[in-house]
Amino acid sequence: MSESLDLAAFPADFAWGTATSAYQIEGAVAEDGRAPSIWDTFSHTPGKVAGDDHGDVACDHYHRWPEDIALMKRLGTDAYRMSVAWPRVRPAGDGPVNAAGLDFYDRLVDALLDAGITPNITLYHWDLPQALQDRGGWTVRDTAEHLADYASVVAARLGDRVTRWATLNEPLCSGWIGHLEGRMAPGLTDLTAAVHASYHLLLAHGLTTQAVRAAAPGAQIGLVTNHSTVEAASSRPEDIAAATRLDGHTNRWWLDPVYGRGFPADMRELYGVELPERPGDLDTIAAPLDWHGLNYYFPATVTDDPQGPVPYAREVRLPDVPRTGMDWQIDAGGLEALLLRLTDDYGVRKLYVTENGSAFPDTVSPDGAVHDPGRTRYLEEHVSACARAVRKGAPLAGYYVWSLLDNFEWAYGYDKRFGLVHVDYGTQTRTLKTSGLRYAEIIRAHRESHA
Ligand code: IFM
Repeated sequence: MSESLDLAAFPADFAWGTATSAYQIEGAVAEDGRAPSIWDTFSHTPGKVAGDDHGDVACDHYHRWPEDIALMKRLGTDAYRMSVAWPRVRPAGDGPVNAAGLDFYDRLVDALLDAGITPNITLYHWDLPQALQDRGGWTVRDTAEHLADYASVVAARLGDRVTRWATLNEPLCSGWIGHLEGRMAPGLTDLTAAVHASYHLLLAHGLTTQAVRAAAPGAQIGLVTNHSTVEAASSRPEDIAAATRLDGHTNRWWLDPVYGRGFPADMRELYGVELPERPGDLDTIAAPLDWHGLNYYFPATVTDDPQGPVPYAREVRLPDVPRTGMDWQIDAGGLEALLLRLTDDYGVRKLYVTENGSAFPDTVSPDGAVHDPGRTRYLEEHVSACARAVRKGAPLAGYYVWSLLDNFEWAYGYDKRFGLVHVDYGTQTRTLKTSGLRYAEIIRAHRESHA
């Protein structure tokens, strides 16, 4: 079966990895000096998360990381994308550094390297210290400076061993979903707050890029953004304009400033919110990067919705298309298209797919296995899409499956399982799913194709 995947398209040093994030797997939220983040607050607010689930224990990775690294070895992956929890390292956001928090990541990095696995560290995957939220969070400029300060502490400690760094994960989710739609922490529904948060997140990205470079010469720094392809539901001019707006909201707003084009004029006009700009910010935001990380899950088809929320483009649910357990449409072609857009339109010189994966309602069968054909198919189709993009010139250097483990899926709680490894949350038993076995086979076959 692996022949049909065109694995020879990928270079010999292609990185095969899995991805996770701190709050989604670590648990141990009150141990060794960690302070609450906005996600502790949000998830403990009744009604915000399905089943009122929270990350207090999650996958207990804080204690079980040796077992989780052993699972990565079973998969045969050579890269692991993880995040560092800001509230473990600098519990108040600024101020004193918590040595125990840094020690945890120090041990983890050493153990990954011992296992032959390259860590790719994301400095901000949504767990803003609550103390900073209480001072305005991402709506104020200081937060961007605090992220860069905390990042330099982490880079100074780990930068002798870690070279692959990401500043932010999916600023779109922090900005739009957290401040405009209210479905993620901090749970605001305020356009001005959202636009200001989006600006400060991108500024934080630029400042953090500088800070990590200063603290860890030789660091390879990237930004991780999530995108969807956007199609109009019809050829009506109104629908085409709606697609342009959603593309601006989802894609251009987050990419144009980073690649030196400034914030898109059509979207600035649509939002009608003055940006908290200062001279020099745009240059900071557009600092040249070593790589770009694309997180891809689903495409979008939209129709004009003048009465709806910004950006007045309503997603249309297409009938008779395959979907995951998140109800997200499956379309691997979208991944290929976005890789090529980043390459051809934005001129990205090195790309990673930093997340790609699917949730399905997996269960452990009486035979002890977790059979997940839907995820296996999703994986194969998306790896094939990557191979096509590479053949067409995308400088793709690696692919990380979201996720290594089933974990805390934010507002969806523990119901949605994205892992290659099933987690029984009652016992913390880990079981490699058949998709994980298939991933191991793909990695092996790719290596053999270059042997
Ligand atoms: O679980 C999330 C992850 O934290 C960020 N990207 C999307 C994943 C699936 O929703």
